[in-house]
Amino acid sequence: MTESETIKENVRERYAEVAKRAQASTTASCCAPSTASCCGPTSTGDYAKKIGYALNELSDLPDAAQLASAGCGNPTALASLKEGEVVLDLGSGGGIDVFIAAKKVGPTGKAIGVDMTQEMLDLATKNAEELGFENVEFRKGDIEDLPVEDGTIDVIISNCVINLAPDKDKVFREAYRVLKPGGRITVSDIVTDGDLPEEIRNNPDQWAACVSGALDEKLYLEKIRNAGFERVKVLDKRDFSGIVKSAEVEAFKPI
Ligand SMILES: C[S@@+](CC[C@H](N)C(=O)[O-])C[C@H]1O[C@@H](n2cnc3c(N)ncnc32)[C@H](O)[C@@H]1O
Repeated sequence: MTESETIKENVRERYAEVAKRAQASTTASCCAPSTASCCGPTSTGDYAKKIGYALNELSDLPDAAQLASAGCGNPTALASLKEGEVVLDLGSGGGIDVFIAAKKVGPTGKAIGVDMTQEMLDLATKNAEELGFENVEFRKGDIEDLPVEDGTIDVIISNCVINLAPDKDKVFREAYRVLKPGGRITVSDIVTDGDLPEEIRNNPDQWAACVSGALDEKLYLEKIRNAGFERVKVLDKRDFSGIVKSAEVEAFKPI
């Protein structure tokens, strides 16, 4: 296996576990010892609330979609989604942002999620069926090689995923390829202010935990520009831990 394949396999294993745990928590009997938090009002969505989702956005989502939430912001809040737009979520996990986006773009629009972890796709598909969405689709694939046609997407969103990809240049080139001219990308992601210590950078568990793969903010923005995007802007930034931050970044494909 190449280094890149090893990183992806490690990431896949971690998020397969997150999906399985989210599913198990909602199917286990209420307040069984392993699911002691499942009865109270704080049972689900606590993490999602912390990272910027409004309560009314979460209230009609299945518990499993909220429990699988592993983002670091809420890109749907900043993407100015409009009725009829086609949205693509890179690394859609349990589907939380796809479902919120699908509501915003309505029946004339569409929200597509791409993820490489089968367990996450299974969970997201089950959640979509439960919600009865007809404008939602999940596809299996790698964000470095998107299973999406050229120039077909109005808006790309992504929540805490690009830092996990070994080749970020490829991710931004792919994002550029699939966007329509004038299309935009709004991502929440982990970046750093400066370089991470070598021992963290080389720790595979820290990579899967969204730390080691994070780039210095300046380099992250440069990679977006190098892919061809313009008007690259940091909309918001929050402290995560030490030099590790979460940033909301917007950029446009020229018309
Ligand atoms: C930190 S979770 C975030 C999930 C979701 N965006 C959310 O906010 O809950 C990362 C997700 O990205 C997926 N992922 C990581 N690297 C990927 C890649 N190269 N291609 C496709 N999916 C990837 C993982 O399988 C996982 O579901």
